[in-house]
Amino acid sequence: MITENKNLFNVQQLQTDLSRLVGTESANQVGELLDYYQKCHAASAILGTRLENLDEEYQTQHWHNPIHHLESRIKSPKSLINKMRKKQLAPTIKSVQEQIFDIAGLRVVTNYPDDVFTIEEELDKQTDLEIIRRKDYIHHPKASGYRSLHLVLLVPVYQTSGSVRLPVEIQLRTMGMDMWASLEHKLRYKTRTPEDKIDQYVTTLQTYAADIAQIETNLQNISQDLNQYTD
Ligand code: GTP
Ligand code: MG
Repeated sequence: MITENKNLFNVQQLQTDLSRLVGTESANQVGELLDYYQKCHAASAILGTRLENLDEEYQTQHWHNPIHHLESRIKSPKSLINKMRKKQLAPTIKSVQEQIFDIAGLRVVTNYPDDVFTIEEELDKQTDLEIIRRKDYIHHPKASGYRSLHLVLLVPVYQTSGSVRLPVEIQLRTMGMDMWASLEHKLRYKTRTPEDKIDQYVTTLQTYAADIAQIETNLQNISQDLNQYTD
């Protein structure tokens, strides 16, 4: 299984970016935000390892890898500020801690649809983790056709000062759903696309999202049927 780290935790870069955005006069705030980022990153690394171990155990015991690959990213200070503006949050560390749960984000791309819920179940069993938010866009797809399971987990982190729990957002989806989401994202952000073309593709993509879901379920059924013939 491959784990891809999209932007590695780089304290110096982060400090420079945060200072630029928050303003160097608020050195205190920059320091606090940097601390918070570090703890969230630690939480994400712990959860990433738990997911890798889970996949390895399934491979050993069931000859099946639920996870195709894992992606990990830290929210850039710029997108943090944009999100806070959009949500009209006061630019304080308190509102980051209370309202923003995706400073650290993991994307788990699975082989089959059932794997998404198997992983959720297994994480739920780990008694020191707590699922504090859940959005099931697989059983309840978005109007766009978007399908994924979004979870926010509180993960215990041991700092020199003691134990703290930090949130990590996980997006779980199949390979097909992931491919679809990348393309749909491209359509959304390529703003120079002519409007009639956008309308046409929006509709086509809604249909394709349902087609992909159906095909992935069919493939899963074949795979599960074949399991009885493995020795
Ligand atoms: P945030 O406060 O930004 O988390 O908003 P939210 O909690 O209302 O959003 P949600 O958790 O539903 O989705 C946030 C993320 O899911 C986005 O940043 C995207 O990565 C992904 N996402 C949600 N809807 C879509 C969609 O229709 N298309 C694609 N491609 N991605 C989506
Ligand atoms: Mg969200």
